[in-house]
Amino acid sequence: MPIDSSMWSLAPWLGTALALATTRGRAAKLDHGAYGTTKDGEQVEIYTLTNDHGMVVKFLSYGGIITEIDVPDRQGQLANVVLGFRTLEEYKTNGASIYFGALIGRYANRIGQARFTLDGHEYKLAANNGPNFLHGGNVGFDKQVWRVEPLRSNDGVGATLTLTSPDGQEGFPGTLTVRVTYTLTNDDALRITYEARTDKDTVLNLTNHSYFNLAGNGSGTVEDQILTINADRFTPTDATLIPTGELSPVNGTPMDFRTATSIGARLRSSFQPLVYAHGYDHNWVLNKPSLGALSFAARAYEPRSGRVLDCYTTEPGVQVYTSNFLDGSHVGSAGRTYRQTDGFALETQNFPDSPNKPQFPTTELKPGQTFHSETVFRFATDRPFRRSNP
Ligand code: GLA
Repeated sequence: MPIDSSMWSLAPWLGTALALATTRGRAAKLDHGAYGTTKDGEQVEIYTLTNDHGMVVKFLSYGGIITEIDVPDRQGQLANVVLGFRTLEEYKTNGASIYFGALIGRYANRIGQARFTLDGHEYKLAANNGPNFLHGGNVGFDKQVWRVEPLRSNDGVGATLTLTSPDGQEGFPGTLTVRVTYTLTNDDALRITYEARTDKDTVLNLTNHSYFNLAGNGSGTVEDQILTINADRFTPTDATLIPTGELSPVNGTPMDFRTATSIGARLRSSFQPLVYAHGYDHNWVLNKPSLGALSFAARAYEPRSGRVLDCYTTEPGVQVYTSNFLDGSHVGSAGRTYRQTDGFALETQNFPDSPNKPQFPTTELKPGQTFHSETVFRFATDRPFRRSNP
């Protein structure tokens, strides 16, 4: 889909900064520029959101991929805390099965045996992960060009990304219209909201697949970073990572992150779920005041830099993935190769294989309904530093 530039063409400053008035300090702003073209000749742009004290989020119209999040440490020193590549070509080729920073749809995570039944009809999907379907299939939302429009917001700067997925795309029923909004707030949070509508009964599961390293992208393992997950239970799986359907207590297992624990502390345990997944690659059942409430999901903390990341979501689950399949064969945006445990993903989502698990919260969407979800990644440091706003 061509990028709609109508919003931009209204302004003589096309390609230059759009300064958005904010209530304090420097003005938050949104810049954009060319990033390359797809093989079909579609133009891809890179967008830069800057908040009123200098935190930066960059993303592409291709896949909605977040390529960079620059966050201060306790001295105010910025570092890019997400893994990524330097070029569109690398995102298209190397990134195809890594999903760095991308928007995932129509269905994030796995659907067992690459099929599901809805309203008595069986839908067959691509088996792109052993016998199972994973992360949208062969050409998911991470590999499509989204239309991007700037967004004026009272609390920061943002953009809305839209995509229309035709009826039958990657095997799913219904024309699905998806609208994702990225807002970088002036209190250092990246807020992601998702909305979708359909013209036929369908299923969906949307997430963003950013890999974080709070010490800085390319700085090595995250094993010393300290994680808290607000979950009493997780969804155990078979050897192909399809949930068995049970919700198992984390109590007494390496899955228990209810108190802050380093990611590496139990990573090499012989606990069967960790052996199956080559590390953490599991869905935790979030403790929630009520289904759909925006509530605390997880915290990550990096002791040397003091950076803290808090994740809140309306989703019922979070897949925590310790980049188990990164094997040193790709050079990232910091000019260094990525290996196992060099990042962790917090994929807020519905539970994997929900279309085949009636006991899980539903992923069905019907005509006339609007799907809505929200995830907030809020950055801070363990000790406040004095901001030098003019
Ligand atoms: C998710 C999956 C993993 C893997 C990564 C991307 O986290 O659960 O198994 O596919 O995405 O490589």
